[in-house]
Amino acid sequence: MNRKICKAVFPAAGLGTRFLPATKAQPKEMLPLVDKPIIQYGVEEALAAGCNQIIMVTGRGKSAIEDHFDVSYELEKILEEKKKTELLRVVRQISDMIHVAYVRQKEALGLGHAVLTARELVGDEPFAVLLADDVIDAEIPVLKQMIEVFEETQCSVLATQIVEPAAISAYGVLDVKPADGHHGGRLYEVLNMVEKPAVEEAPSNLAIIGRYILTPAIFDVLSQTQVGKGGELQLTDGLRALLKQEKMYAYVYEGRRHDTGDKLGFLKATIEFALKRDDLGSPFKEYLRALKLD
Ligand code: G1P
Repeated sequence: MNRKICKAVFPAAGLGTRFLPATKAQPKEMLPLVDKPIIQYGVEEALAAGCNQIIMVTGRGKSAIEDHFDVSYELEKILEEKKKTELLRVVRQISDMIHVAYVRQKEALGLGHAVLTARELVGDEPFAVLLADDVIDAEIPVLKQMIEVFEETQCSVLATQIVEPAAISAYGVLDVKPADGHHGGRLYEVLNMVEKPAVEEAPSNLAIIGRYILTPAIFDVLSQTQVGKGGELQLTDGLRALLKQEKMYAYVYEGRRHDTGDKLGFLKATIEFALKRDDLGSPFKEYLRALKLD
C-alpha cells in the first residue's frame, strides 16, 4: 500500500532562550528573516511539498503564531480602504494558505515529547516533521526531495548533512551505510544514531537536520522512550528504538541550510535572503560593498 504524506508537524513550543531578550515576549518562530517570520518559510516548504494539513505544537506565549496564520479583519479592512492592494494580497495569502491545527505542549519536555503531543492530530499515517529553525533554501523544497524517497521506500526518512567536527555535538548523529538505488549517492540506510555525542563518540560526520518523514509507529515507541540528553524526551532516542522494528533512511538533501536558531546563523540567513530579493538585492549589495570590509 502506497501511503501519502499530507500532514506536517511543526514543534514550536521551545522557549527560544538563545534569542533572549528578543524572545521574552514573542515566539522565536516569529522573528523575521527580512520580512517573513521564520516559521512561514517552513510552512511554505511543507505546502510546496504537497502537505495540506499543518499541525503546530505550541505552548504558552505562542499566540502570535496562531494570529499570523489567521485572518486579520482589521488589517485587511484598513489596507482595503487605503487601496494598498499588494500588501493586501500578501496578508491574505498567509491566511488563505493553509488549514492549521494547534495543539499545546504544556511543558517543554523535548522534541520527542512535542512529536508525541501531535499523535491524535496525526493519527495512523506517515507524516512530516519540520523544525522551523532550520531554514533551507533549495531549488526543490527539501521536504519534497524526501517525500520522493519515502514514496519509493515507504520507510522513515531523515534529512542529513555533513557537519564539521567542532559542531557535531550540537546534533543527532548518524551511523549509516550507503543504500542501493538511484539517488546519486545521497541515500543511506541508517544503522544507528546518537543525540548530541561528544566529538570523539560521534559515529560519523552526518548530522540529522530538522526535516523528518516518520511512520506512525514512532508514536508507540516514543511513548515508551525514557528521558534522555538534557532531561528531555529525545526524538533521536525514539528513532533509535524504531530502528529495531523498521528500516530507516537518511537523505543528504540538496539545498543550503541556515540555522536561524543561532544568532550568527540568523544574521547570515538574513543577509543571503535579502541579497536574493528583487526589491532589495541591488541597494543592499551596494550598501554592503560601501562598508569596505576586508
Ligand atoms: C534537534 C534534534 C537533533 C537535530 C537538530 C537539527 O536538536 O534533537 O537531533 O540534529 O534538532 O537541527 P536542537 O537543535 O533542537 O537542540
